[in-house]
Amino acid sequence: MQTSSLTASNSTCHGSLACVGFGMTLGSHLTPLARSHIERADVVFAALSDGIVEKWLQRLRPDVRSLQPYYREGKSRLKTYREWVALIMTEVRAGKRVCGVFYGHPGIFAWSPHKAIEVARAEGFEAYMEPGISAEDCLYADLGIDPGRLGCQHFEASQLLFYERRIDNAGYLVLWQVGLVGDWSLTRFQTGSAYRQVLVDRLSQDYPPDHEVIVYRGATLPIEKPRIRRVALRDLPNIPLTTEETVVLPPAQPLKLNLAMKERLDALDALEKAGKAVQV
Ligand SMILES: C[S@@+](CC[C@H](N)C(=O)[O-])C[C@H]1O[C@@H](n2cnc3c(N)ncnc32)[C@H](O)[C@@H]1O
Repeated sequence: MQTSSLTASNSTCHGSLACVGFGMTLGSHLTPLARSHIERADVVFAALSDGIVEKWLQRLRPDVRSLQPYYREGKSRLKTYREWVALIMTEVRAGKRVCGVFYGHPGIFAWSPHKAIEVARAEGFEAYMEPGISAEDCLYADLGIDPGRLGCQHFEASQLLFYERRIDNAGYLVLWQVGLVGDWSLTRFQTGSAYRQVLVDRLSQDYPPDHEVIVYRGATLPIEKPRIRRVALRDLPNIPLTTEETVVLPPAQPLKLNLAMKERLDALDALEKAGKAVQV
């Protein structure tokens, strides 16, 4: 198991890095392994969903260093994330056992944990990612969706606008960061309904305007319930929507049989049944 390599490192470099997931719901989603990384680290950095969650972590590690103050309205988030990587790497290079705690899963829609691990490994340090329960995991549970049944595409909402992407509307479509859709600058924490209208116009190429859209917010506190709103696609620009919400479009059409593939598979089945070896 990779984690043991962090506890008994043979590396000539002594610093190490573990980026761990905190899960979505305060307290209840923290895995024993993530908790043990947090408890054993020399230095703990945290990028969590809100102040209450950070306070909870302070009970485990009163010396936790919050990464939140590096965000600023009007400052590029990429600049902030680069600063986080620099802060983490300064401690790793100083020979410390460093733990970065990120809400949800540290590798899902999260640039800096991946980057910090890449940089640490390139410099010869032990670096490891411990998964966490993400918004995606909660969404499958709360909305009763099995991504294996009809397939499920995930996009960062802006990417659907900035690039030519193909949507398969026979499966589920999950859109992240809809609350700040269309922000090229990466400096805003929210974009308005005019930006969401552009998203709706793009989605209208693949879905009818009255198609049901689910706006989902998973619980972040144990006393909360998930918030699930269902609206018509055309109405998406007109509802209040926070940056903590994820948008799901259920399938718009049934699966279509691929007759050419079916024919080939039927032919193979027939050969096998006749006891003839099938060579590629
Ligand atoms: C930067 S990503 C972080 C995702 C996180 N690392 C995870 O594992 O879920 C932020 C996006 O995650 C989704 N998200 C965050 N909190 C959420 C919540 N409580 N419920 C549903 N989606 C959420 C939203 O799409 C939001 O725009």
